[in-house]
Amino acid sequence: MRLPSPFTITGGRIIDPATGTDAIGSIEIRDGAITAVNLDAAPPSGPTIDATGLIVAPGLIDPHVHLREPGQTHKEDIESGSRAAAAGGFTTVCCMPNTTPALDNVAAIVNVERRAQEVGLCRVRVVAAATVARQGQKPVDFAALASAGAVAFSDDGDGIEDDAVCSAVMAGIKNVDSVLFPHCEFKALSHSGAVHLGPVSRQLGLVGYDPHGEEAMIERDLALVAKLGVRYHVAHVSTAKGIALIADAKRRKLPVTTEVCPHHLLLCDTDVLRADGTPDPNFKMSPPLRSATDRAACIEAVRSRVIDCVVTDHAPHTASEKNAPFERAPMGIVGLETSLACAARALLDPPAFDWPDLIERMSTAPARIFRLPGGTLRVGAPADVVLIDPDRAWDVDPQQFHSRSQNTPFGGWRLTGRAVCTLLAGRITHLDAAQRDRLIAKSDF
Ligand code: DOR
Ligand code: ZN
Repeated sequence: MRLPSPFTITGGRIIDPATGTDAIGSIEIRDGAITAVNLDAAPPSGPTIDATGLIVAPGLIDPHVHLREPGQTHKEDIESGSRAAAAGGFTTVCCMPNTTPALDNVAAIVNVERRAQEVGLCRVRVVAAATVARQGQKPVDFAALASAGAVAFSDDGDGIEDDAVCSAVMAGIKNVDSVLFPHCEFKALSHSGAVHLGPVSRQLGLVGYDPHGEEAMIERDLALVAKLGVRYHVAHVSTAKGIALIADAKRRKLPVTTEVCPHHLLLCDTDVLRADGTPDPNFKMSPPLRSATDRAACIEAVRSRVIDCVVTDHAPHTASEKNAPFERAPMGIVGLETSLACAARALLDPPAFDWPDLIERMSTAPARIFRLPGGTLRVGAPADVVLIDPDRAWDVDPQQFHSRSQNTPFGGWRLTGRAVCTLLAGRITHLDAAQRDRLIAKSDF
């Protein structure tokens, strides 16, 4: 929906972690950019959206999503994924390259960006493959892919197991001043298990997913980062030991950052079991839900900033794929439409950890790490904005998702906090039906 230019969003709680702003005020938007932030009471003239009672924050940024285009568009595509992102309050997402074929060449990147622009609901940037066809053998052409727009490099879904290949990848990425965004897993050590190794895997008689596979690769990589100095962002960290390794690297001032997913903050391995004791494939992902101790370590690390950002790892799979027996069901869950409220549930503990901290982890920090526009409401920034109702309680109904897939463990959960309006460069990309009248009809447009 196009809005007049200029217009003003008034009366909301303006939160901008980039400037340390947290106050009632208004922002003016003109020609797709933020042109004024006004924290005194002076009433603006001209058309307004009344955001009284809402948080006004920079649009959320998720650097870790799977949009499945090309090749797996029965699960998701750039249009359905962008719609889900906008509904979740996101204005920028970065898509992972484990498509079919993989995003390992310039034409593939250009196609994704062109399609995302046609759809126009969300900025979509590409995380390109780190090795050709994600085979872990031959590094890609980092210079060509970075100049085509790749924001980082990853073989997500698989680790780069070979030490020499990983060194070459790091050196190549360092050369173009980009970021290695690794999925850390030695499969021989993790055993590609179905559930976290522990009492639950033993009770079910399933192969245990050993955390050592993740931790050993983080450890190997950090030694290489110390030598090579490449910017390094660990994907979906899930174990207490992995977090401790990253904390130590940060103390040594290595250029290391990391992220966690809401499901690793809210769930652990015992949650995989249904009431009848059978495992539910909607709780199966890689890395898996870990122990209660790991979960507590993840929460603490977000609060202490050892973990820099909260990302979804939005990984759509169809119901028929997920309905396979647990061992054979694919790994991954959708997250774009539940992420904000799940992260709020897991983390908010004001005043120690309040909405500005959450917005920082879900917008400002990813913008900084991947050098993306947005993540701030500063004058001159693109008008990528989310209006959040922090008190809105709602029930997760996967049938209502905009995503093409419904594979979530949170179906039926009652959550609090919701993106009610998302603006991309000053255009509305999502407007909650229940808020339409309040926000738009009463506005003097
Ligand atoms: O659970 C996951 N799903 N983890 C991954 O690393 C890949 C992803 C996918 O593409 O489905
Ligand atoms: Zn992923």
